[in-house]
Amino acid sequence: MLKRRTPLLLIFLSLLFACSGESESMRLPSGPTTPADASVAELYNRSCRSCHAQGAGWAPRTGDREAWASRLQKGNAVLLEHTINGFKGMPPMGMCFDCNEEDFTKLISFMSGG
Ligand code: HEC
Repeated sequence: MLKRRTPLLLIFLSLLFACSGESESMRLPSGPTTPADASVAELYNRSCRSCHAQGAGWAPRTGDREAWASRLQKGNAVLLEHTINGFKGMPPMGMCFDCNEEDFTKLISFMSGG
């Protein structure tokens, strides 16, 4: 059942990525893509990374300062609030249910280029 559907799913996903702004996904990140702090890295690798490393579903890519510029203009309080409560394709808590506000602040700062 799952096997039969896999090719269709792959086609759908490749279309999704093809349409999600090629120039943005082709651009190399200008900031770090791995957190320097080991505890932040641990949280990042098991939550935010799955979407933000590749920019899945229009997520601003980790280390892509250009993609983050308009987000940062909203201010840290708004970004923190959107991380906790979710925002469009961004799931509440960014799938890190044991992260606290301080963790999120560190993760956002790292992902947006430090
Ligand atoms: C399931 C995928 C997914 C995961 C996991 C995820 N994000 Fe996101 N995130 C998104 C998407 C998609 C957007 C873009 C939403 C939009 O603007 O359409 C986003 C946007 C954001 C924004 C910008 C919000 C704004 O107001 O512009 C922040 C901050 C953010 N994510 C932080 C995080 C953090 C921190 C984590 C890990 C704890 C995380 N995300 C995990 C998908 C994800």
